[in-house]
Amino acid sequence: MDTKISIMEENQIDYEAVKEAAKVIKDGGLVAFPTETVYGLGANALDANAVKKIFEAKGRPQDNPLIIHVSSKDIKELVKDVPEVAESIMERFWPGPLTLIFEKSDIVPERTSAGLKTVGIRMPSNPIARELIKTSKVPIAAPSANISGRPSPTEVSRCIEDLNGKIEYILGGECSEVGVESTIVDCTVDPPCILRPGAITLEMLKAIDERIYIDPAVMEKPKKGLKPKAPGMKYRHYAPKAPLKIIDGDIKKTIAKINEMVQNYIDGGKKVGIIATDETFEFYPQGEIISLGSRNNLEDVAKNLFEVLRIFDDKAVDIILSESFEEKGIGIAIMNRLKKSAGFDIIKV
Ligand code: TXA
Ligand code: MG
Repeated sequence: MDTKISIMEENQIDYEAVKEAAKVIKDGGLVAFPTETVYGLGANALDANAVKKIFEAKGRPQDNPLIIHVSSKDIKELVKDVPEVAESIMERFWPGPLTLIFEKSDIVPERTSAGLKTVGIRMPSNPIARELIKTSKVPIAAPSANISGRPSPTEVSRCIEDLNGKIEYILGGECSEVGVESTIVDCTVDPPCILRPGAITLEMLKAIDERIYIDPAVMEKPKKGLKPKAPGMKYRHYAPKAPLKIIDGDIKKTIAKINEMVQNYIDGGKKVGIIATDETFEFYPQGEIISLGSRNNLEDVAKNLFEVLRIFDDKAVDIILSESFEEKGIGIAIMNRLKKSAGFDIIKV
């Protein structure tokens, strides 16, 4: 299939391109588009055949439901009920990097919700995304625009890498400013439960309802009896091609341990990648070193994380060693993605 690609500078909306892409959506095709979290791969959420194509293009497991993207807070057609706490959360954080789970209405196909009676809905803040949804006149189901299992794309070049030739249209804008996927909050339970951590943090949500908590299965290695409530959270995910190990503990000990491991790998003829930070970068004398940004700006670290994993794919390293981050604020989302990328291979120092 020929994929049409239109790239907009600095999120300056090219209305003609958006109109073309919206037509693709209306006609049951697939469009990759920018959002503030990561790029999405969209189809008409109410068209089961169109949604089926998303699963095929990504190689996505059939039991993993999609998030529906809307351009206004009026979601009553899509859901059975909007609990009061969800109203308050939407009022405060929409548009933005936050998905809410509701009981779904009958117009949402089972294909979209992967057979669940619930559905995730999000109103993105990215202007191109919102314009696309508005112009399509349908809600858009969109997972991250990567081949299943790979790190989510935060730049249009990565969507092209994964999806060129497989979908009708790729709309490009700036790189995603948040860099990790939306926070998911299940509002069908009381108190609401965070199924996936993101840029809207636990602390921010507790200001709305202090009983809100994070699904305990999300931050730990999958084990019997502790199954994440979001189906997608159980898969090995965000994975770079090379195995990734996280070194966790006091920062000086971390650096020493990483350097010792790097030496061993190099002695064994391996090419090693190091995920460092601005503060530690200079303490690694060898290896392919990339900084995620400053430890004093974890928003930046989140923004760069997936792209750095993909750069290590490009560099074809044999192994990646990463520093870890404090699990506080957006650090919880960073560590969630990093641990899943590492398949929970964590070395304590
Ligand atoms: O930021 C985002 O949310 C991005 C952009 C494109 O908007 N989208 C995204 O979609 O991350 P995806 O498909 O890569 O991840 C969706 C996650 C999966 O873990 C899925 O299992 C969960 O949301 N999910 C969707 N619907 C659900 C539901 N009804 N109940 C529980 N979990 C749900
Ligand atoms: Mg994804």
